[in-house]
Amino acid sequence: MAYLITGATGNIGSLVVERLLAMGERPRLFARDANKVRSRYGQSVDVVEGDLADSGSLAEAFRGIDRVFLVNAGPALAARDELAAKEARATGVRHIVKLSTIDVHQQNVGTGVWHAQGEAAIRASGIGYTFVQPSGFMSNALAWTDAIKSQGVVRSSTADGRIALIHPHDIADVAVVALTTTRFDGLELPITGPEALSYGQMVAIIGNAIGRPLMFQVISDNEERSRWEARGESPESVGYHLSIFRAIRAGQLAGLTDTVTRVLGREPISFGQWVRENVAAFR
Ligand SMILES: NC(=O)c1ccc[n+]([C@@H]2O[C@H](COP(=O)([O-])OP(=O)(O)OC[C@H]3O[C@@H](n4cnc5c(N)ncnc54)[C@H](OP(=O)(O)O)[C@@H]3O)[C@@H](O)[C@H]2O)c1
Repeated sequence: MAYLITGATGNIGSLVVERLLAMGERPRLFARDANKVRSRYGQSVDVVEGDLADSGSLAEAFRGIDRVFLVNAGPALAARDELAAKEARATGVRHIVKLSTIDVHQQNVGTGVWHAQGEAAIRASGIGYTFVQPSGFMSNALAWTDAIKSQGVVRSSTADGRIALIHPHDIADVAVVALTTTRFDGLELPITGPEALSYGQMVAIIGNAIGRPLMFQVISDNEERSRWEARGESPESVGYHLSIFRAIRAGQLAGLTDTVTRVLGREPISFGQWVRENVAAFR
């Protein structure tokens, strides 16, 4: 089986590559900067340099490939999913495992609308697919490191709403099963962590791990918007982050799925475990 991995320098794509290498596979990586992936993986992989917006480089990367792990991000992701599916089909690729989001099951939350359009385009292309649909990544909590280190306070408009963030390793493990077996072909895999926690509860878990009491402070939507704008985020990014925080506050994202256990035969990893692995970042 020949595998093409996109997003190999990113959060989940890199973990997928590591797992394939550990299985003795030699994946082909599609990257904007070949040197960046070469310096990371050496000669253990094949590399095609290209851009997900460029059909020529996609066609070159897909040649001889059976199954693709597809990571697209940002407002153009649906058009890029469509382009990738079209080129993949034309080149003889059989299956795409798309990194999507569980927010496709919500109304106008986060990147859910873009990913829903991307999924629809992949379905319509007629190529085989699996949609891996994670909840928010536990690693998003790394955005709190500066505030925790400098002030001991995390501020958010999520109030006491809860969300079951998922460990990036669980996402990658599920994606690799979807990529290397046919067990989940044609399916959506909505995946969450094991328990829904409020931001205040997560901050308290981090405080326990670093041995320092931390505060969680609720802010308004307007304050939240100003903070994201001050960081220079695009209007789209500000908008989708605010919609996620509102949905968390309203309790819309507190649901759990048993998909990780069904796919992997083990429980998803807890937030406490993720914090233990990353405690140095918060000290
Ligand atoms: N964060 C969350 O909580 C969350 C939750 C659910 C779903 N998701 C979804 O997960 C996906 C990954 O998000 P992420 O923030 O984790 O991404 P990420 O780690 O930043 O990875 C993005 C990857 O895509 C590559 N890339 C970007 N533009 C490209 C282009 N034009 N051509 C080729 N490669 C390109 C980047 O490579 P370079 O090295 O070239 O930049 C990088 O490897 C997104 O679709 C997001 O919506 C995220």
